[in-house]
Amino acid sequence: MSESDWRPSSLAAQGLGWIEPKTGAISPPIHMSSTFQRDPDNQYRTGHIYIRDDNPAFEQVEAVLTRLEEGAASLVFASGMAAATSVFLALRPGDHALAPENIYYGVRKWLLGFAKPWGLEIDFVDMSNTDAVRKAVRPGSTKLIWTETPANPVWTITDLAAVAEIAHAAGAKLAVDSTVATPVFCRPLTLGADIVMHSATKFLNGHSDLLAGALVTRTEDAFWERLRTVRTQLGSVIGSFEAWLLLRGMRSLFPRVEYAARSAQRLAERLQGHPAVAAVLYPGLPDFPGHAIAARQMKGGFSGMLSIRVKGGEAGAVRSAANVQLWKRATSLGGTESLIEHRASIEGDLSTTPKDLLRLSVGLEDADDLYRDLAAALDAGHRN
Ligand SMILES: Cc1ncc(COP(=O)(O)O)c(C=O)c1O
Repeated sequence: MSESDWRPSSLAAQGLGWIEPKTGAISPPIHMSSTFQRDPDNQYRTGHIYIRDDNPAFEQVEAVLTRLEEGAASLVFASGMAAATSVFLALRPGDHALAPENIYYGVRKWLLGFAKPWGLEIDFVDMSNTDAVRKAVRPGSTKLIWTETPANPVWTITDLAAVAEIAHAAGAKLAVDSTVATPVFCRPLTLGADIVMHSATKFLNGHSDLLAGALVTRTEDAFWERLRTVRTQLGSVIGSFEAWLLLRGMRSLFPRVEYAARSAQRLAERLQGHPAVAAVLYPGLPDFPGHAIAARQMKGGFSGMLSIRVKGGEAGAVRSAANVQLWKRATSLGGTESLIEHRASIEGDLSTTPKDLLRLSVGLEDADDLYRDLAAALDAGHRN
């Protein structure tokens, strides 16, 4: 069976099955060189010049991502933020963009604090409301619709096919932060999106040991070339070792993410019955707003991320988080270890997150252990 027939999990498990030709190595070598020799006749036939432009260490990881997202090309970046902000920096001052009201707070903070003063016109809309998106778009002047689905930290779902249609009718591109869904559950490019973005720091790498980002495009058009130029000129590339680590992490992407999502679903269902829990926010629950759309566009699971709203307000939430033993109190998501976070505390002034909300990133521990540890912490937090 040729590689072109392999399913995505097989492609990921073997990093596309590449073998290093010189030694037969199954795990690729790491080239640490920052520069590459020019041919005597003044050409660069290897295609490699200098690692701010590109790096042999990116080739395999970008090729895997391109295949998993069913795109035309990928670019890895120094962080998820570098990848996300590059999409906006590739626009021109005066251009109009739409972004979600509910969104990873780091991107929202940058849009408000940097992108707007820099000259972009940005309106924030409820991306779960397709009619609101249709009303907010300005045909001819809107150049980008940015969304995130499921979106931090209340997991708002965007109907990607519907919003892609609105974007394209207005002459805009649709870019999707798919960090939480991962290509295991959702491939936005196949639903009409133009660009997919990942904080590769999270599920793609999966081991809480590096910072990286990525963009994948549906077509290698002029906007994509601009994005490549933004990355080169800002120098927002990852190092060779980080690229190698990311490739290694992505080999286990499918079993990790599928396992975490199964545990998250079980936890969400059980936590609904806990007396200290006011609400469970998880797209896999049938009564979650957006569940039907999520079930249509996410195949096989709803991610390892959920949130709970705790009785007793902010104090109850913080007290409950203080009592966990197995869960770790930390920001970030998508690692092997389960994390619990009082989201409003890290988001600060601009936060719109309910103060009683705890965000849960489900890792690879035993799901019953995770429930028992959290249930005991919630009991203790509720008693005090
Ligand atoms: C959904 C989402 N997008 C983007 C980012 C930013 O990525 P990074 O921390 O890799 O810069 C994060 C980080 O938490 C995230 O959760």
